[in-house]
Amino acid sequence: GYFAGLSTHAASEVPVPTVASNSITLLYGSQTGNARGVAKKLAEQLSQAGLTVNLQSMADYKPRSLKDESTVLVVVSTHGEGEAPDDAVELHAFLASKKAAKLPQVRYGVIGLGDSSYEFFCQTGKDFDARLTALGATSILPRLDADVDYAPAVAAWSEQLLAELAKSAPVSHTPSVAGSATFATSSVYGREMPFVATLLESQKITGRDSGKDVRHVEISLEGSGLRYQPGDALGVYFTNDTALVDELLELLKLDAGEAVSVAGKTVSLHSALTDQLELTQSYPTFVQRYAEQNELPELTALVQDKAALRVYLADKQIVDIVRLHPGSLSAQQLVDALRPLTPRLYSIASSQEEVDEEVHLTVARVANEVNGQPREGGASGFLTRRAEADQQIRVFVESNDNFRLPQDLNTPVVMIGPGTGIAPFRAFLQHRQAQQAQGKNWLFFGNPHFTQDFLYQTEIQSYVKDGLLSRVSLAFSRDQQEKIYVQHRILEQGAELWQWLQDGAHLYICGDANRMAKDVEQALLSVIEQHGQQTAEQAKEYLTALRKAKRFQKDVY
Ligand code: 2AM
Repeated sequence: GYFAGLSTHAASEVPVPTVASNSITLLYGSQTGNARGVAKKLAEQLSQAGLTVNLQSMADYKPRSLKDESTVLVVVSTHGEGEAPDDAVELHAFLASKKAAKLPQVRYGVIGLGDSSYEFFCQTGKDFDARLTALGATSILPRLDADVDYAPAVAAWSEQLLAELAKSAPVSHTPSVAGSATFATSSVYGREMPFVATLLESQKITGRDSGKDVRHVEISLEGSGLRYQPGDALGVYFTNDTALVDELLELLKLDAGEAVSVAGKTVSLHSALTDQLELTQSYPTFVQRYAEQNELPELTALVQDKAALRVYLADKQIVDIVRLHPGSLSAQQLVDALRPLTPRLYSIASSQEEVDEEVHLTVARVANEVNGQPREGGASGFLTRRAEADQQIRVFVESNDNFRLPQDLNTPVVMIGPGTGIAPFRAFLQHRQAQQAQGKNWLFFGNPHFTQDFLYQTEIQSYVKDGLLSRVSLAFSRDQQEKIYVQHRILEQGAELWQWLQDGAHLYICGDANRMAKDVEQALLSVIEQHGQQTAEQAKEYLTALRKAKRFQKDVY
């Protein structure tokens, strides 16, 4: 046929260069999707400038290909105590090993993403930078160590990069992008221009006596043209609670109507604090400036000790810092010390095959008390309490190609999602049902109490009844004396799980990154060791191979 002829023709006419001297390889290592988002955007900018970009996850990249590259850009995040994201682990280790060849012909740039409240801020980015230099590669411009509010710094760095590349590279005038990049989007709405959506429903799905307040939220995307796939996240912009803004203004004795300048625009202090600045988290940059302005020795000492500072800030908001350490700031000083408000990403809990122009979320309301004052999470407070019916919410779709159902409908799927980690699996199950997938589905879910916290219980039970779910393993942690978690169920059902893996199952984890995902991964390794008769080392390799084959994917936060 026509297409077959065309592709043969194309293949024979286009030489495949061994060294793509003109093309840029852009590698990202992402855990939560931020680094991936930054890399995608940078790839777009480079390609719009007429450069050829090969955008790839580090997980899909052959480390030995580095020696054939001319220009390499790295976007990589850092987690916990200086840990590399899973996708970056292999390349990171390779660069530090004896196997790594010298790279004198390579020029490179690195964007590290991190959180400056951690001691090993942007450590993985720093490692990549140091290793590339040590191997003889040349840095195009100084590495960027970007903090949680990375967008402006990334934009400035990208501009500088483009200027540097323009100096040296003969630019071809046919913009093209190779690799796994997909820039086609059916909607004009995105992070930069969110869609103003309508809240349809926000319903509590935990029981009256539950210690948790989890909401099922439904939002209409009607008219937006926005499309999403199971595994994608919804970006949600929110505003700060007026009561919180007023409390801060009162503590600092500032006038709501005072004019301040934010990002080059003049607005009232009240509007800046409500719409543009981060109040519901606290962070070192604010504490430092506040302590400096007010000669607060106790706070100044704390700023020196990153680990202690992080623990201290973990449950506090900006207003708590000010309340606990009375002081003052001018309106403009306050605005300058605060971070820009960033949208929050929620794993989508629905499939468009089932809900069409709606999007569903599973949102846990975050609430605590600090010094007797009630506090709530910014976005979760907005979604669960303040966004009353028909209130508008600014949203966008953040796609996530690292959390995808198998293409083959016969492939079995194992989903491990305690707590709100259930969200993407509700999307998966809706989708598998709509697709009439024949592959078996196994869900692991856990929460404190069966009677109070069994999220989506009726849906799950009906999926069991109609056979979509062939297995459900539940871990209600506080229904008995000793804690039972999903990883205990995994261990109990190890033989069965091993069989599923032998049958080609894809494995997914969603939920808490700090403890749950790590403990579950340990349990998986034990299962592989025990039932696959492997050494600890072999089990690790087995799991790594699964990851590389995209059969083991995580969406953890
Ligand atoms: P807990 O709160 O009773 O300790 C969702 O939050 C569920 O995950 C809860 O049942 C919670 O139990 C449980 N959980 C807490 N820590 C965990 C861990 N390290 N691994 C797996 N589940 C955990």
